[in-house]
Amino acid sequence: MRKFVWIQLILGLLTAAVLGQALSPEEIAGKVANLLSRMTLTEKIGQMNQYSNKWDMTGPKPEDDAKAYRYNDIKNGNVGSMLNVVGAAATRAAQQLAVDSSRLHIPLIFGIDVIHGYKTSFPVPLAMAATWNPELVEKAAAVAAGEAAAAGIHWTFAPMADISPDARWGRIMEGAGEDPYLASQMVAAQVRGYQGNDLSSENTIAACAKHYAAYGAARAGRDYNSVELSLYSIYNIYLPPFKAAVDAGAVTFMNAFNTLNGIPATGNRFLVKDVLKGKWGFEGFVVSDWSSIAELINHGVAANLKQAAEIAATGMTDMDMESFAYRRHLENLVQEGKVDEALIDESVGRILTIKYQLGLFDDPYKYCSEEREKTQLLTDENRAISRKIAAESMVLLKNSDNLLPLSKDIKSVAVVGPLSNDKDSPLGNWRCQAGADNAVSLLEGIQAIVSPETRINFVKGLDIDNNNVRSFDGKIDVKSVIKAARRSEVIIAAVGETAMMSGEARSRMDVGLPGRQLELLQELNRLGKPMVVVLFGGRPLTIPWLAENVPAILMSWEAGSESGNAIADILFGDVVPSGKLPVTFPYHVGQEPLVYNELNTGRPQLNDQQGFVSKYIDGPKEPLYPFGYGLSYTDFEYENLRLNRPVIRIGEPLRVGVTLKNTGKYSAREVVQLYIRDLVASIARPVKELKAFEKVELKAGESRDVTFILDNKVFGFYNDNYEFIVEPGEFEIMVGGNSVDVMKITCKIVE
Ligand code: BGC
Repeated sequence: MRKFVWIQLILGLLTAAVLGQALSPEEIAGKVANLLSRMTLTEKIGQMNQYSNKWDMTGPKPEDDAKAYRYNDIKNGNVGSMLNVVGAAATRAAQQLAVDSSRLHIPLIFGIDVIHGYKTSFPVPLAMAATWNPELVEKAAAVAAGEAAAAGIHWTFAPMADISPDARWGRIMEGAGEDPYLASQMVAAQVRGYQGNDLSSENTIAACAKHYAAYGAARAGRDYNSVELSLYSIYNIYLPPFKAAVDAGAVTFMNAFNTLNGIPATGNRFLVKDVLKGKWGFEGFVVSDWSSIAELINHGVAANLKQAAEIAATGMTDMDMESFAYRRHLENLVQEGKVDEALIDESVGRILTIKYQLGLFDDPYKYCSEEREKTQLLTDENRAISRKIAAESMVLLKNSDNLLPLSKDIKSVAVVGPLSNDKDSPLGNWRCQAGADNAVSLLEGIQAIVSPETRINFVKGLDIDNNNVRSFDGKIDVKSVIKAARRSEVIIAAVGETAMMSGEARSRMDVGLPGRQLELLQELNRLGKPMVVVLFGGRPLTIPWLAENVPAILMSWEAGSESGNAIADILFGDVVPSGKLPVTFPYHVGQEPLVYNELNTGRPQLNDQQGFVSKYIDGPKEPLYPFGYGLSYTDFEYENLRLNRPVIRIGEPLRVGVTLKNTGKYSAREVVQLYIRDLVASIARPVKELKAFEKVELKAGESRDVTFILDNKVFGFYNDNYEFIVEPGEFEIMVGGNSVDVMKITCKIVE
C-alpha cells in the first residue's frame, strides 16, 4: 500500500513537471519578485501598456510610421498586452515578436471581447440572464473560453457587471439587466465558466469584470454620459455584481468611461484603491477602457495626457488600453517624483502574476494551436449547447387562447417581416469571431422543423437596417405580405432591432419597433388571422400596441448561432418556454429608467387613484411587462407560503417554503422568485428586492415543495459609510413567478 502511494506521488510530480502544472501562489510571488528586480523602469512601464492590433501580424513589418512604432514597441519589450489579435497564427507571430526580441522575453497577454461566444455565438448576455439558469450560463462561458483559448486568446473583456436600469442605453444588451442579485449570479457564473479552476489550463481564459463602475446609470440612457448616484445606490445596486466577480475569482477589472458624481471612474481612487483593491482585497490587475485615460482630458480633470497618466497611475489603473499615456509619460512622472515607483512595481507585479497564472512563462505559445483552432471551434456539440441556452433564454410575453405551440403538421404558415430570414441580426453586437450572416434564420429554423407538407409562404415585406431606426424609415410592400398571409393558417412575423441597434454607442431615444414595422403589423392584423410576433432585440422594446392586439408574442432577443432553430423549438413545442425578463419592459420610453426595485414615494399611486400622487397624467406608471415575467405553455400555481418561524433573531437563518404545482398539460420549468421588503428601516428601502430564485422542473400534474434558506445577509443593506447592517424590524417575504404576482407573508427580525 505504502509503495503504491509513493509511486502515485512520483507519477504525480512527473506529470506536473511534464504538463507544467499550475505554480503555487508562493512560487509565483517569488518568480514575480525576481523578474521585477531585473527589470528597468522602461521595461516595467512596458508591461502596463496595451495596444490594439493594427496590421496583419503574420505579414511583414508594417511600413507606416504609427504602426512601425507599435511594432518596435512590441519587439523592445514596451508592450505588456495586445487586444484584437485574432487567431492562433497571428497570436503566435505577435508572441514570437515579443518573446524572441525583447531583453527579458516576457510574453504578451492577448485579450479580446468574448462577450457571448467566440465563434459559436450564444445569446447576448441580457438574453442569457433571461434563462435565470447560472449553470447553463457558466457552461456557455466555458465553451466560449475553450474556443477562444484554442485560437490563442488568454483574456476576455467580460463579463459586463453593469446594472442597466435604462432601456435606452445601448449596452444594456451586454449585461444581466436591472437587478443586483440576478446580475451577481450571472456575473459569477461567467467568471467561473471563463476561468474554470485553473487559469493555466488550455481551455480557460482570464475574465475581466467591467465597466467599473456605474456605467449603466448614464444620464438619459446616452452612452458615455455622466453618472450621478446616491451612495445608497452605488453600494446596494451598482457594486454588488462587481463584488460577486471578485468573490468568484475574476483576475482582472476594467475601468468605466463615465464620471461618477463628478470624478471619472478611470483613475478613481475611491473605486479602485479604497474599494476594489482595499476593502475587497482584489489581487488582480485593472485595465483602463479604450482610451479612457486620455479621455480624462475631455472630462476636464486633466490638462494634458501627462496629467491624465498621473491621475490614472495614482488611481491604480494598472494597464493603459490605447491611450499611450503610460508609454509616453509614466517614466518622466516617476523621475519627477509625481508617481511613486512602488506603485509601478505593484501594477507590474499584478500583471506578471496573471501571466504566470496563465502559464505563459512555461510556454508562451501554449494557447496558439492552429490544430485546436481548426477542430474545436463551432463544433456540433458547441452549437447544441448554444441552441439549448437560446431556447431557454426566450420569453413568452403573450399567448392568448394557447395559440402556441403550433403543430408541426400545420398546412400553411406565413413567415413575414424584415427579420424573418435575417442570418445576421441574431448574432447581436459584440459577436467576436462569429462572422456576418452566420446564424440560423427564423425561416430556416421553421423550414427544418415543420412537416415536409407544410407550405411556407415567405415574404419580408419591409427592409430594415442599422440606419432605419425612425418610425417612417424604409420601403414597405404591404401587398405581397398580405397576399402571403391570406394564403396561410397562421402568420409568424419577425420584427424588432437589427444587431447594430444596440451595443456600445447605440443608445436610442425611442425604444419602439424601428422603421415601419408597426405599420406592417397593423396591416396584417386587419386580416383577423392568428398572428405570432417574434421579437428580436438587445433591449426591452416598447410594444403596447402589440400587447393589446396581437395574440402571441415571443421575445427571442439576439439568440446567437442557433437562433432560428431555438425559436422554432419554442414555436412548435419541442421546448416549453421558461425564460423570465431580467429587465422591466416599459409601456413608454418616457418612463425610463424604470425598474421594479424602486423606493416607495411619499405619495405612491394606489390602484387608479388620481390627484396628487406619483403618476403620469398621460399614461400608466406601471410597466408593460414586469421584471421576472414570462409565460409557459403550462400553468403553475403557488400555494402554502410558509416560514419555519415568524420571528428570528439577527444572525439566524430563515427558512421559507412554498408549494409549486404544475396544473397544466406540459412538463415545464418555472423560475420561483423570492423578494423581500424591509417595511421600516433607517433609510428608505425598495418596495421589492429579489433575494433568491430557483429554476424548478415539474411534470404535468406534479407538485413540489421549494425551500429557500435565507441567511441574515438577505435582510441587510449598506449604509452611507459602506457598512453592511441588518436592522431589526418587520419584513415582507414575497414568492411568485414574477415580481408582481406574488404571495406574501411577514416575518420579524429581533435583536
Ligand atoms: C469598450 C469595452 C471593450 C473595449 C475593447 C471599449 O470601447 O467599452 O467594453 O472591452 O472597447 O474592445
